[in-house]
Amino acid sequence: MKSIVKFIIVSVIVISTTGCCQHGYKKATVLSPSKNVFVDFFLLSDGSAAYTVSYNNSIVIDTSGFSFDFKGQLPLKGNLRIIGVENSGFSEEWEMPWGEQRIVANNYNELIVKLKENSEEGRSFNVQFRVYDDGIGFRYELLKQTGVDSVIIMNENTEFNLTGDHTCWWIPGDWDIYEHLYNTTGFTEIDAVSKRNHYGLAQTYIPENAVNTPVTMKTKEGIYLSFHEANLTGYAGMTLKIDKDNLLMTSDLVGSDRLGYKVKRALPFTTPWRTVQISENAGGLIESNLIVNLNEPNKLGDVSWIVPQKYMGIWWEMHIGTRSWDVKSGKHGATTENAIKFIDFASENGITGLLIEGWNTGWEHWIGFEDREGVFDFVTPYPDYDMDSVVSYAKSKGVNIIMHHETSAAPRTYDQQMDTAFALMNKYGMNTVKTGYVGKIIPKGEYHHGQWMVNHYRRALETAAKYNVAIVAHEPIKATGIRRTLPNALSREGLRGQEFNAWAMDGGNPPEHLSIVAFTRMLAGPIDFTPGVFDIKLPTKENNQVNTTLAHQLALYVVIYSPVQMACDLPENYEGNPAFQFIADVGVDWEQTKVLNGEIGEYVTIAREERDTGNWFVGSITDENSRVIEIDFNFLDPDSKYRAAIYRDGNDAHWDTNPTSISIEETVITNDMKTTFDLAPGGGLAISLVKIDQ
Ligand code: NOJ
Ligand code: CA
Repeated sequence: MKSIVKFIIVSVIVISTTGCCQHGYKKATVLSPSKNVFVDFFLLSDGSAAYTVSYNNSIVIDTSGFSFDFKGQLPLKGNLRIIGVENSGFSEEWEMPWGEQRIVANNYNELIVKLKENSEEGRSFNVQFRVYDDGIGFRYELLKQTGVDSVIIMNENTEFNLTGDHTCWWIPGDWDIYEHLYNTTGFTEIDAVSKRNHYGLAQTYIPENAVNTPVTMKTKEGIYLSFHEANLTGYAGMTLKIDKDNLLMTSDLVGSDRLGYKVKRALPFTTPWRTVQISENAGGLIESNLIVNLNEPNKLGDVSWIVPQKYMGIWWEMHIGTRSWDVKSGKHGATTENAIKFIDFASENGITGLLIEGWNTGWEHWIGFEDREGVFDFVTPYPDYDMDSVVSYAKSKGVNIIMHHETSAAPRTYDQQMDTAFALMNKYGMNTVKTGYVGKIIPKGEYHHGQWMVNHYRRALETAAKYNVAIVAHEPIKATGIRRTLPNALSREGLRGQEFNAWAMDGGNPPEHLSIVAFTRMLAGPIDFTPGVFDIKLPTKENNQVNTTLAHQLALYVVIYSPVQMACDLPENYEGNPAFQFIADVGVDWEQTKVLNGEIGEYVTIAREERDTGNWFVGSITDENSRVIEIDFNFLDPDSKYRAAIYRDGNDAHWDTNPTSISIEETVITNDMKTTFDLAPGGGLAISLVKIDQ
């Protein structure tokens, strides 16, 4: 990968600054650069603070307040006065070292409101709004207090007061895992508690009727809203509690039963950003860069060692049950011999990464053990896996081995071993690790999404960075744009991935799954979904299959963004299948991304231009309904012709009755063409467009 070229134009315009001595404010406002988004901040008659958000002159978030409940201090709520207001504007362009696009525009207007309590406590804090043309972010800055070093937050109560019973795409506010099917309901029908006994999520903890973020909505007027958070640092993850009667969502932080609070922080500190993305069309949510823009610039400097790539894995075999992680099973997957088979296939087909799971001792104790501390050491291979020879053979074939660290949700063990484990990776020249946190967190009473684990996941990233190691985390904390600051936060799971199709007893992921994920989970950041199953009916799994067509699987390489994209099926299932050519050809690192069309939970079509080559790739997926989509190729360079390989559903294709029916055609496509394509039920379309030298 190219080294980062610094490309930043920063202009800070202070529009108006009002000093702290000017009293008597009752309100403050801020407009986005194009004036389509407007935030109004004001004090209510009891002195509590509130805000509204308008989009094109209509209110989209009605009067909403906020407050904090502390341990050992009175709540911070009401009886406030505004002691200062600062407005400023900011405009820059920054370059993603890897990403959905290379250059990102970051243009916003900012409002900082300085507040002070009138009461004896007289505590001060600031609320900072950044208003973009595609939404808003706001956060709190809790300031120093005389005689108080730190605060213990029992609850942060940030409100989002909705203007109607919007259609919502949501997963429950689970404190441990995001691996739930999306629900599509009206706001007043959200019922997260009924999902408590969801199959396969032993570690689930869903204490109340709350949803996780990003949660995406469509208003009756056709406006799309998505609620999330940015720069989740040193704080607990935020779920949103549902108050159906008042059409109100209130932040509900993930807690710790062990510690008995939500967050403990030394003063002063700033909270993560609370974000609302706003768009007139569903695709605008995907094109929005609000979440990354609300994070700090790259702190790692030269990250040219981070390699976007496609990878295969000794992995799917375990999920379909033909191999195991555990050496004692008699069907161990991570053997030297099997690794060589994968390396040969990958190298012959231009796939440069290979993940090997089950290589280290401990898997025989994996599931079912209460005390999982010390089970894995991340340095000791099983005897049938010769790491030296696998790594050197891979190197000779141009393949990088991707390390695997399943922590089994024993993060204290991982904390102790991390340095040794990453040093071992350095010794072998490996720079990507997939981590995992399956199970209930040890110590008991902690949850995956609480402050303690947020800090752990961050420590892992920061430690890995010292060793030039990038992380693909499974059972992670949600993505909140930290990848801008720490680009070694490469990708993550944090959703119901492909693996559910192999073992979930609830029928796996329905055909609509990824046409919801694209507008929800994907707004947060890259997804290690692991696409590319060709043997869709899963013959070794009597009750399971993948619920899409083969063309849909191909389309996912473009639709679902990840800088590391897996070709998850087995070499023997790819061998000789001409559809594999798309996987071999498709890019992983993009100059730009355009969402051509889409409706949440129905269909979505995305075009991405590969960096350096100027080649384009298009992916389109549909839910269980067949449909005709029109693609206008006007995004192509008007001065070039493109050799197109079109992978589309066969005429008789159907996700259930005939999923592998595919038709592959080659043609020439130019910028002035518009074409319609038929997508089968559960189907898809993938197109590679390679520039023809002229
Ligand atoms: C769950 C992960 O999502 C999966 O990809 C991995 O194979 C297993 N844990 C074992 O670590
Ligand atoms: Ca998982």
